[in-house]
Amino acid sequence: MPDWTPVALLRDLPPLVVMPVTVDGVDLALWRSASGRIAAWADRCPHRGMRLSHGFVRGEALSCIYHGWSYAQSGQCQRIPAHPDLEPPEAIRVPVHHATEAGGVIWVALDTVTTAPPALAGVQPLRSVTLDARFDPASAGLTESGGAWRGTLGGVAVAVLVQPLPDNRCALHVLAESKASPTDLVAASRGIETLRRQAEGVSA
Ligand code: FES
Repeated sequence: MPDWTPVALLRDLPPLVVMPVTVDGVDLALWRSASGRIAAWADRCPHRGMRLSHGFVRGEALSCIYHGWSYAQSGQCQRIPAHPDLEPPEAIRVPVHHATEAGGVIWVALDTVTTAPPALAGVQPLRSVTLDARFDPASAGLTESGGAWRGTLGGVAVAVLVQPLPDNRCALHVLAESKASPTDLVAASRGIETLRRQAEGVSA
C-alpha cells in the first residue's frame, strides 16, 4: 500500500477551513491554518468525542465546536474556555497524522512515511468527484504511470488519483495537462461526469 493517499485538491481547502476526509477507513479532520499550514488529525475531540471536522479554525489553531477546547498545530490542547487560567495537561492531545501538499494535491499518510508523494509534472488541478461505486481505472482505459492513472477525458490528457472510500465508494482527484485551454478544461470536466455515470451505472 502506498504511503500517501490523495484526499483533496489544495484549492478545495482554503485557509481557515476544516473538512472531514477518510483514509483507509479512518475518519480525519483535514484543516488549513491562516498561514496555510495543512494538518490531518483524528476526527475526535479528546474531551467528549465531538468530531473536530465540525470545529473552526482560528489563526494557527483548531477549536472544537462543542465546548471550544482549542488545539495547536502539534495537536496539544492549548486552551479550555471554561478554565481560562488552566494550562491544559500535555496528555490532552489529538493524534496527528502526516499531511502535505504536492502538485496542487493534498496527501495524507497515517503511518511512517518512507517516500514523498508522487511529483505530477505537466498537469494542473482540475476537480475532484465522489463516485458511489468502485472504480477500475484500467477498465476505463487509463494506464498507471508515475503515481497516477493517465489517459484522456473529453479529448484532454489527464492524470487521475483514486482515493478509496468506505462502502464501496471512491473519490477521483483529476488533473489536466498544463497546456489545456479553458475550453479543454470544460471538455475534460464533462469527461469526468461521463466517467462517473459510467462507473456508477456499471456498479448498479
Ligand atoms: S467535546 Fe470537544 S470541547 Fe468538549
